[in-house]
This record gives sequence, C-alpha cells and structure tokens, in this order.
Amino acid sequence: MISDSDKKTLEIGEELGRKLRKGTVVSLRGSLGAGKTVLAKGIAKALGIEEAIVSPTFTIVQEYDGRDMKMYHLDLYRLSGEDEFESMGGEEFLYPDGVTLIEWSEKIEDMLPDDTVYIDITINDDQSRDIEIKGAEL
Ligand SMILES: Nc1ncnc2c1ncn2[C@@H]1O[C@H](COP(=O)(O)OP(=O)(O)OP(=O)(O)O)[C@@H](O)[C@H]1O
Ligand SMILES: [Mg+2]
Repeated sequence: MISDSDKKTLEIGEELGRKLRKGTVVSLRGSLGAGKTVLAKGIAKALGIEEAIVSPTFTIVQEYDGRDMKMYHLDLYRLSGEDEFESMGGEEFLYPDGVTLIEWSEKIEDMLPDDTVYIDITINDDQSRDIEIKGAEL
C-alpha cells in the first residue's frame, strides 16, 4: 500500500485497528520518522482511545484504555536487547489482555509470537510511504 500523507497512514492504521483481535501483537518497523507512531495513532482511534498517543521513547511502554480492550504501545529504540526486555518484564506484553504495538520490534525479533502482525514502512524518494502488512487482511 502507498501512503502519500499522514492522514492516509492514520486511516490505514484505523482500518487495521478495527480488525485486531484481543491478544494480538503488532510489529511496527521502519526507519526514524517513517510513520510508525502515526500508524499507532490510527489503531488507537479505532480502539476508541481518546487520550493523546505520545511516543513512548523514554518510558518504553505506554498503556491506554480502549473501548473494549487495552492497548500497550512500546518503543524499543533505546532498549539494548532481549535481556533488558526480559528484565523489565516485557514478556507480559507479548501475550496481552488487549493489543500490543511495538516500534523497533527488531530488538526482540526472536521473542515475537508466531501470529504477530508485521507492518513495514519504507520512505520513498518522493516522501510517500510504502506500507506492507503481513499477518492481517485489510
Ligand atoms: N505518508 C506519511 N505517513 C506518515 N507520516 C508521514 C507521511 N508523510 C510525512 N510524514 C511525517 O513523518 C513523520 C512520522 O513520524 P512518526 O513519529 O510517526 O515516525 P516514527 O516511525 O514513529 O519514528 P520514530 O522511530 O522516531 O519513533 C511525521 O512528522 C509525519 O508528519
Ligand atoms: Mg515513533
């Protein structure tokens, strides 16, 4: 899929968010500024989260209450690796009582559940984004 604006990326997130089932982990991959957090905002909107979504770079995890379930938003950019993830008790977010979105999930790639939904965002030369979704149908 191609997104040529923030708004389009939000809409793609929203459409995906409507289809997510409880317990799903969503891996958001892509370079700095690709639009991972924008997409997360779209998912949050679909889940009925009214609170503003802030980038959890420093806190690593932010928890939100949605209409029917919680959303955990993780940003592992500053995480050293799987050992640190385990010692912060990260595994509970891989089997959530809601949905978990993980930016920079590459850091814990081998720990992700088999049914993880993968979203890969690439910035094109014209600044549009290629958004590839694996493990879910829009
Ligand atoms: N098509 C697009 N989709 C999403 N964002 C876009 C698009 N075009 C431009 N942008 C801009 O790119 C930036 C994306 O920022 P965002 O915080 O979502 O990136 P990120 O992938 O979460 O980065 P980080 O790794 O730093 O967390 C925003 O400033 C947004 O306005
Ligand atoms: Mg981000």
